[in-house]
Amino acid sequence: MESQADDGGSVDLDGATAERLETLTLEPLLTRDYETRPALVYERLRRRHGPVAPVDLLGVPAWLVLGYREALDVLQDDAGWPKGLENWRARTDGEVPADWPLGPSLEVNHVLIQGGPGYRPLRQAWDAALKPFQDPRHAQAKRLKAAVTAYADELISLVGQAGGTGLADLSAQFSRPLPLMVASHLLGFPGSQGDDALMDMWRVLDAGPDAEPALERLLATLAELAAVKLEKPGDDFPSYLLAAHPELSLDELARELFMLLGMTSDHVGILISNTVVEVLSGEGGVRASLSAGMVRESMNRVVMRKPPLVNFVPRFAAKDTPLGNYTIRAGDPVWVSAAAAHADPLFAGNVCPSTTVSTRAHLSWGAGLRQCPARELASTVAAVGVGRLFERFSHLELALPADQLPWRSSPFMRGLRSLPVRYELAATPAQPSAPARTAESDATVLPDPAVRQRSSLWRYLTGLIGVGR
Ligand code: HEM
Repeated sequence: MESQADDGGSVDLDGATAERLETLTLEPLLTRDYETRPALVYERLRRRHGPVAPVDLLGVPAWLVLGYREALDVLQDDAGWPKGLENWRARTDGEVPADWPLGPSLEVNHVLIQGGPGYRPLRQAWDAALKPFQDPRHAQAKRLKAAVTAYADELISLVGQAGGTGLADLSAQFSRPLPLMVASHLLGFPGSQGDDALMDMWRVLDAGPDAEPALERLLATLAELAAVKLEKPGDDFPSYLLAAHPELSLDELARELFMLLGMTSDHVGILISNTVVEVLSGEGGVRASLSAGMVRESMNRVVMRKPPLVNFVPRFAAKDTPLGNYTIRAGDPVWVSAAAAHADPLFAGNVCPSTTVSTRAHLSWGAGLRQCPARELASTVAAVGVGRLFERFSHLELALPADQLPWRSSPFMRGLRSLPVRYELAATPAQPSAPARTAESDATVLPDPAVRQRSSLWRYLTGLIGVGR
């Protein structure tokens, strides 16, 4: 039963406004204001609407979940709030424009987006395929750590080619390429053959004019890689995923590899840059926990203070459901905002910055059934990379005040556009250097230097040497 609210909307019996999303006055979310000061935008929405706000996402109506409790309600109830674009009423009714800018990133039907019966076996396969890289006793996990160390050393040495002291952009020269190189290692690209594909991933993420042809080339390269792994399995993620889920078609496998490449390169890169900034600006107790050797603790503080994935991919109400001050109609899209939920007084008011161990109750890795399966891997890569930076540079300082660093915002993530620093290399470089080997596998983790130098990634990075001079 419904009655009329003061503003003309209808109110159902438990007090929630039951007006249709499409008929509400929607505030565009992705504005210049959001790019520069997202926290203020979240607070304005919270004041106006409470814990759940109707917003306009580049021309498409959606609900943004700003409340911590409401975010948990959604994330922990997969049956009530399933993923899967087939559950989106407006899309089924043909109301989502074909050229909606977010379409391309949501329409690739991989594990992060997918709902329905295919999801569970796929997620189980992901867990199985990631396990060797995340179980610290496993040879693959040790080999991965050795590889990250070696790649970090390669990149730092390249920065140092400009001189023992200088200016560098640690985003372009370290935080972004390092996880790309790690992704190439996980994918089992032979040599540095994957470097060209990695450059294409960059073009896709930057969404510039060459993004579309880059996406086509990238998917074709990943499909070729998938075919090679099907023919001749190796010790790598695609082969492990296939072993755990033999029914995957080559196309499906290529989509999952695309997902891995995107998550690894973008999100881990953001985490590395954010950690460097937090350490250098001494915020949030990160420097103290890092120098006390509490690397996991440092990572936890950084992802909580600045979640790389600010808004999660959409879920859809399975039936009309009250949430916050509104009733969400069956099939309405709901975007959980981890960044806004962390600013909810219910969460923020209970976080004590001075405690030695920060809370794990944050949402930066998700919550419930669909939380991130690669948390350990991502934290390890970031921690090893950041650790190596602070070992090899005797001095690092931000070349801009922390509040003037340039941010790039998308509907999903928030990271730095560049990270300008002044550096001084340590006089005696801490070991190890290339080519790194691991005792367990005795396998070289660095590709042949001659091949590396010919690759497009390397040519690009070489062009950046001394970039800030
Ligand atoms: C700093 C790095 C990362 C952060 C902060 C992060 C965060 C997240 C979050 C918040 C979710 C849940 C999204 C949702 O509920 O809609 C998620 C899901 C996921 N992440 Fe990560 N992630 C990171 C790195 C990675 C990496 C490197 C991989 C792959 C190697 C990965 C693989 C996945 C997958 C497969 C899912 C989907 C899980 C599912 O729906 O069952 N993530 N991640």
